[in-house]
Amino acid sequence: MLGVTTPEMAAAVSNASGLGSLPVGGLSPETTRELIRKTKGLTTAPFAVNLFVHQVPDAIDEVGLQRMQDYLEKYAQEKKLPFTRRNAPEFTFYTYQQQVDILLEEQVPIVSFTFGIPTPEIMTRLRKAGIVLIGTATSVAEAVALEQAGAAIIVAQGFEAGGHRGSFGEGQLPQVGLFSLLPQVVDAVKVPVLAAGGIVDARTIRAAFQLGASGVQVGTLFIPSTESLASEGFKDAVINAKDTDTTLTRAFSGRWARGVRNEFMSALETSGVAIPDYTLQNSLTAGIRAHGQKNGHPEWVSLWAGQSAAKARRGNAADIFKELIKGVDFAAL
Ligand SMILES: Cc1cc2nc3c(=O)[nH]c(=O)nc-3n(C[C@H](O)[C@H](O)[C@H](O)COP(=O)(O)O)c2cc1C
Repeated sequence: MLGVTTPEMAAAVSNASGLGSLPVGGLSPETTRELIRKTKGLTTAPFAVNLFVHQVPDAIDEVGLQRMQDYLEKYAQEKKLPFTRRNAPEFTFYTYQQQVDILLEEQVPIVSFTFGIPTPEIMTRLRKAGIVLIGTATSVAEAVALEQAGAAIIVAQGFEAGGHRGSFGEGQLPQVGLFSLLPQVVDAVKVPVLAAGGIVDARTIRAAFQLGASGVQVGTLFIPSTESLASEGFKDAVINAKDTDTTLTRAFSGRWARGVRNEFMSALETSGVAIPDYTLQNSLTAGIRAHGQKNGHPEWVSLWAGQSAAKARRGNAADIFKELIKGVDFAAL
């Protein structure tokens, strides 16, 4: 969970016998290496490194950029938030391609990815190095494409999942709930499938395995953990969210993501201003989001969380993990 997961959180989950996942999507090569090394220093157990496989635009649409900056500048002035205008050449976007050498040099055993499929050359390089590749699918077609491209494991991410949709297919955004998605993906591919979305306790884990999952991926439950980067306001928003309080939005990042509805989301969505694509919009809102995190104002933070957010509790990551799997007899599943 980029922006939430720390090396401490990933390592705590791995040390507790889960597979901790270190997010490095869109980070610089230097930060990527630093975070991997830090996690290695905290656990000898395997952990996964998670990439964002998105296209970085060759050119920025200047008109769209200026319109969004006009809106954000005025909004920031009204709400007394920081906002600095920038010209197109001042934006830096890192790609997953720039992180591949580091993953190989650091001998990372497992790489998971979302938002797409790495190029065939990169898939081959990583596989030849013995790295287990985990791809994210939000539809049967995406799962089949991932399997064909060489993913060893596929995450079936249901509509209820918190954070960005991993979707990468053409056309309409897939909006398939996990109960429908999981068995259909399991039937369509031969590789093991992990269930993601609304997994919060033993019964949801058992249900996922009953539908054919070989494992589960959990996000929201760990947001209020001690090891999390989420501010206290973000943690409270997650814990206090009702089943109906999250929604999909492009407001914060330009990519569809699920989070607790807040003031910024509503304002932007009703503004009528076209939202630039990921990752430009993500960069444009970065200052406002950071200000919200730092100063305890959750209404300016992207409160990514899934539909089962209400089940999350404070505690350290190891305890949250133990509570999650309590009562599950994995050998019997
Ligand atoms: C705050 C947050 C950040 C996330 N960041 C990432 C990420 O960086 N990479 C990724 O593959 N998935 C990310 N996800 C999605 C999770 O991997 C997972 O699919 C999802 O959390 C599962 O649903 P749940 O939130 O109901 O447990 C994120 C989810 C949340 C809640």
